[in-house]
Amino acid sequence: MSDHDYKPKSKVGQWFNDRLPLLTLANHLTDYPTPKNLNYWWTFGGILTFCLITQIITGLTLAMHYIAHADMAFESVEHIMRDVNYGWLIRYIHANGASMFFLAVYIHIFRSLFYGSYKSPREIIWILGIVIYLLMMAAAFMGYVLPWGQMSFWGATVITNLFSAIPLVGEGIVTWLWGGYSVDNPTLTRFFTLHYLIPFLILGLVVLHIWALHVPGNNNPVGIDIKKPSKILSHSIHTLLLKMVCIINVYDCFCIFCFLYA
Ligand code: HEM
Repeated sequence: MSDHDYKPKSKVGQWFNDRLPLLTLANHLTDYPTPKNLNYWWTFGGILTFCLITQIITGLTLAMHYIAHADMAFESVEHIMRDVNYGWLIRYIHANGASMFFLAVYIHIFRSLFYGSYKSPREIIWILGIVIYLLMMAAAFMGYVLPWGQMSFWGATVITNLFSAIPLVGEGIVTWLWGGYSVDNPTLTRFFTLHYLIPFLILGLVVLHIWALHVPGNNNPVGIDIKKPSKILSHSIHTLLLKMVCIINVYDCFCIFCFLYA
């Protein structure tokens, strides 16, 4: 399959596609070759996309009722929990969804490390992933501050104060981050602004992440690029490698089982 060969069937489609190749893009996304031997660990990219969209939709809904002011934030969250129809559900999906998002991203990262998906020619996918992960941590931290309870306030105080360990400029950076001489209303409003903005930055980076993935295509459990005949190992070595990967997978499942139930 080559994207350049794609031609829409209808005349209108061709006219449109010559000017804005959205149909070529749609064709690429639906007719994209994928290795046959992918296992369930490759589903986590899709799971993460689902998590991100869920966080954005529930976050937007919460933002319709939340008030980003030091005097009203806590009560607005109480209002969401008690008065807003299904507000409790939306909030719990958002808060627990964030934890599930991190669980999924750790599995996704360890899959990439385990199967060497970070190596050439997929370095850019990996680097974009690292930036996404850093932004996810920033968004989660700022989200935790928004309910403005004791945990939020002291969490914000402790974490922002870590910057004060930087020699000479540390104290200045902390004051700058706070927008004053303590964690207060300016800190809350900027955290809310950034907490709202970052998921959309992540969304943009995810588009680049998948775009970068579609250039070399997926890695696969044996790590052999099937498009390059010279890279295909002889049957015996290939089978041995496959067996080793399977044994390691069974062992992993056993370890996870012991960890969970011991
Ligand atoms: C919002 C977060 C993320 C989303 C939505 C996302 C989405 C995806 C999707 C849809 C795929 C293709 C399917 C798959 O291989 O599972 C993928 C592949 C990949 N991702 Fe992510 N990703 C995210 C975060 C990360 C992070 C944090 C890293 C690493 C630091 C990372 C590294 C990779 C790598 C190396 C691949 C290529 C895997 C392969 O071809 O075998 N991703 N990602």
